[in-house]
Amino acid sequence: MSGFSAITGWGKYVPEKVLTNQDFERMVDTSDEWITDRTGIKERHIAGPGESASTLSIAAARQALDRSGIAPEDLGLIIVATVCADYPFPSTANLVQNALGARCGAFDMQAACSGFLYSLSIAHQFVSTGAAKHVLVIGVEVLSRVVDYTDRSTCVLFGDGAGAVILSASDEPGGMLGFTLGSDGANPERLWIPVGGSASPITVEDIRERRQYVRMQGNEVYRFATRIMGTAMEEALANAGMTAAEMDLFIPHQANLRIIEVAAKRLNLPPEKVFVNLEKYGNTSAAAIPIALCEAIDQGRVFPGAHLGLVAFGAGLTWAAAVVKWTAVVAPRADRTEEGSALGRAEPLSVR
Ligand code: ACO
Repeated sequence: MSGFSAITGWGKYVPEKVLTNQDFERMVDTSDEWITDRTGIKERHIAGPGESASTLSIAAARQALDRSGIAPEDLGLIIVATVCADYPFPSTANLVQNALGARCGAFDMQAACSGFLYSLSIAHQFVSTGAAKHVLVIGVEVLSRVVDYTDRSTCVLFGDGAGAVILSASDEPGGMLGFTLGSDGANPERLWIPVGGSASPITVEDIRERRQYVRMQGNEVYRFATRIMGTAMEEALANAGMTAAEMDLFIPHQANLRIIEVAAKRLNLPPEKVFVNLEKYGNTSAAAIPIALCEAIDQGRVFPGAHLGLVAFGAGLTWAAAVVKWTAVVAPRADRTEEGSALGRAEPLSVR
């Protein structure tokens, strides 16, 4: 059996605490001007005590379930994309499954910033083959716990947050029309946490030298990202039988405004077709695309029949892109509240 998939629910959660560029001016040798010019980022949300990948995920997932009108027990699978799992094991997905009261299989997926699109493509396989009717896909990161706040070249870039979608079986042609996944693991040190895994169990010396934190060769990653974003998007579009001109909204990974601008230029997209919100969140890795999608919907930039182009790159290095035809009718939201706050139950959506 082969059918269609549709996003029927979506939700996001970001922690309340905000770190601005001015806050960083007091922490490291940097300036609002440097951060804004080089990245476009103005502020980012940072998890507080008691918050973790699972708590952020649960808040985003509850919104997505409310919006879809789907009960947790009707979920056929839960996938959590993250590099910031609560524990080495069990998986964060296990914790989310339990908190939601779901009974289905649940696992974590690791492809760094590309993790959400990797997970969405896995969910699509389950849904389109009939193996699952509804799959909860979450992208979540608490990068503030693994970023070195004495390293100005990385600490200003990242933020915390979670985004979730429900991918459901649908009779309506639409949903994920095409995707591409990629990996180049030749030089993992381009972006990694050098210790703490089985190759290099953490030592006191490591901690002294701060090797338990993110390390990045920024220029290398930048060069890679500017090349791969356009290429990956074009591949996914070709797999969907489409061209860039047919995209209604481009929702790229939110790492750096300059990288997004290069990709948009390569794809010949006007600014109004490019979604950017990194100024408010920084790079939230696997959470960036689902958070951006939620905001694009809230801003009325996603409409039934719209073709969305999603593309990400990340540590690995990895990359992923997907073309999604939006088929959910967005119900009017009477309960729209402040950023990051919990939302009440919204009208269930109809899927056309
Ligand atoms: N404030 C002030 N100066 C800084 C800062 C800072 N926060 N960070 C670096 N600098 C300095 C450097 O020390 C360097 O100084 P020098 O010339 O005296 O040596 C100077 O600024 C230029 O540094 P570059 O690294 O060349 O700056 P660049 O223009 O390349 O911007 C950046 C750096 C923003 C990190 C860029 O390379 C980039 O965005 N790379 C991609 C990073 C990325 O997207 N990573 C996420 C991947 S997704 C994932 O999986 C998490």
